[in-house]
Amino acid sequence: MSASNIPPQEPFNESDQENEVNVVGIHESILREREEPKDGYEPIPLWLIAVFFALIFWAGIYLAMNSGGFQKDVFNPEMVAWAGGGSAVAAAPPDPKVIGKRLYTQNCVVCHQTTGLGVAGQFPPLVGSEWVVGGDWVGDNHLVKILLHGLQGAVQVKGATYNNAMPPWQQLKDDQIAAILTYIRSEWGNAASPITPEYVKSVRDAAVGRTEPWSQKELKAIPAEAAGASAQPPATPAAPPANPAA
Ligand code: HEC
Repeated sequence: MSASNIPPQEPFNESDQENEVNVVGIHESILREREEPKDGYEPIPLWLIAVFFALIFWAGIYLAMNSGGFQKDVFNPEMVAWAGGGSAVAAAPPDPKVIGKRLYTQNCVVCHQTTGLGVAGQFPPLVGSEWVVGGDWVGDNHLVKILLHGLQGAVQVKGATYNNAMPPWQQLKDDQIAAILTYIRSEWGNAASPITPEYVKSVRDAAVGRTEPWSQKELKAIPAEAAGASAQPPATPAAPPANPAA
């Protein structure tokens, strides 16, 4: 095999006029043959339609998973619309007992159990407890005080003695404590009146600055009070301030 079949190539020479091709002329004719651009719509590419629907589908799933069922109280789960305070828009105000149950499950179940029966010898029962539904000397004020500041030392519950410590819950809001107490007073066969946030507030305000948990001995010295009584408007309206000018 030799390179003899390949014709010898002439070296390119700029000055070689014979070989010159009129490039500009060729392009001019091509441009002339081209169709004129015209008005109208190109069909949307299929892949773009597919992407579009995939996005809508994803958005639907995203919304369904993250919208919290479109409940109006989703971002304020502890919202309690108390009777009288509810707005006209609210179809059914959230039941304090439902909120109370949720808060009880979050905060109290570990010790007092879902059954409200507690753990023998360690955590006293709430079912039928005189502290919860009221007893000889135990009033609603004592119950709210225990919740706000805790309880320690020897206590008698349904005839049994416990000597342990109950943590304070003053970090909870008035309506949250009211909801928990309303729940434990009406659950498991307990049937005591609801506790209002206003009552919790009045007990909280009366013990401002207290950090110590209560003891049974200390509480016994405080006269029993019924939440219902103070929730009513005072029987005797506050005397008008003495007018020195009179
Ligand atoms: C860490 C465990 C613990 C948690 C959590 C707890 N408690 Fe208690 N609770 C106790 C103990 C212990 C006592 C008894 C204290 C003592 O022996 O002095 C008690 C006593 C009580 C009493 C008075 C006695 C009785 O049984 O009726 C009530 C009412 C009560 N707790 C309600 C609650 C509520 C409502 C919550 C939730 C907000 C709660 N507790 C959370 C441990 C707990």
